Amino acid sequence: GEAAEDPWKECMETAVQLALRAGQVVKKALTEEKRISTKTSVVDLVTETDHLVEDLIISALKDKFPSHRFIGEESTAAGSKCILTDSPTWIIDPIDGTCNFVHRFPPVAVSIGFAVNRELEFGVIYHCTNGKMYTGRKGHGAFCNQERLHVTQETGIRNSLILTEIGPKRDPATLKLFLGNMEKLLKFQAHGIRVIGSSTLALCHMASGAADAYYQYGLHCWDLAAATVIIREAGGVVIDTTGGPLDLMSCRVIAAGTMELAQSIAQELQTIDYGRDDEN
Ligand code: IPD
Ligand code: CA
Ligand code: CA
Ligand code: CA
Repeated sequence: GEAAEDPWKECMETAVQLALRAGQVVKKALTEEKRISTKTSVVDLVTETDHLVEDLIISALKDKFPSHRFIGEESTAAGSKCILTDSPTWIIDPIDGTCNFVHRFPPVAVSIGFAVNRELEFGVIYHCTNGKMYTGRKGHGAFCNQERLHVTQETGIRNSLILTEIGPKRDPATLKLFLGNMEKLLKFQAHGIRVIGSSTLALCHMASGAADAYYQYGLHCWDLAAATVIIREAGGVVIDTTGGPLDLMSCRVIAAGTMELAQSIAQELQTIDYGRDDEN
């Protein structure tokens, strides 16, 4: 039957519906008063809406797919294990761009990724404030609403537009790495570097051909899971900052339209161990 031939189709349709529902909750909460607390540092923010939306998504998925596993940013922060096994696993960022959400800066997203046998099968990223739905499914292409996505063919740092994000770590070594890497890329005459405050939407812009590359230290599997499928299905590459294959749990990434550009960036970046999502 259809289910056997296309086992994850129903999962993906559910993800789209849930991202939409969650996104409507986020959009409504954007202009209301927010209860804000902090996590690992004074700039690492979380709101009651982050928790509400993660609970909404995970409880709906658990009802429908009781044997599946779940990794969610706020569940992980609350002590739930962040381990990717061979089981079908949902990887969820309930609000990507919480700091933007707090300030009402538009790039705010819901991100839902899905992996089986540790391989990413599909990703759904909903831009809550402009209503764009980004989707990608292994072997089936990447889309923004109904429109097919394609990365750029830029091969060099020179003349490229590059995206990165800052993350909540602000110790001197992290800041030095961040600024040092930016300086290097700018010296190579990149046209520009942009920081929009949502790693998932930055990655979607790259998948859409609106930027040539993305790199970051300190992003998590829930920032990367859905976006990685979307970028690969748009023709792009997602690798480790060393230039080797991506490790979803390593908190380091370079994504680009071409392998050549990704490798040129890898050569320039100072590579450090940034800790792992699955530690302990
Ligand atoms: C963060 C955002 C930010 C990036 C951080 C992420 P959150 O996600 O994507 O742009 O710099 O590394 O953790 O906490 O808003 O979901
Ligand atoms: Ca967060
Ligand atoms: Ca995030
Ligand atoms: Ca988040």
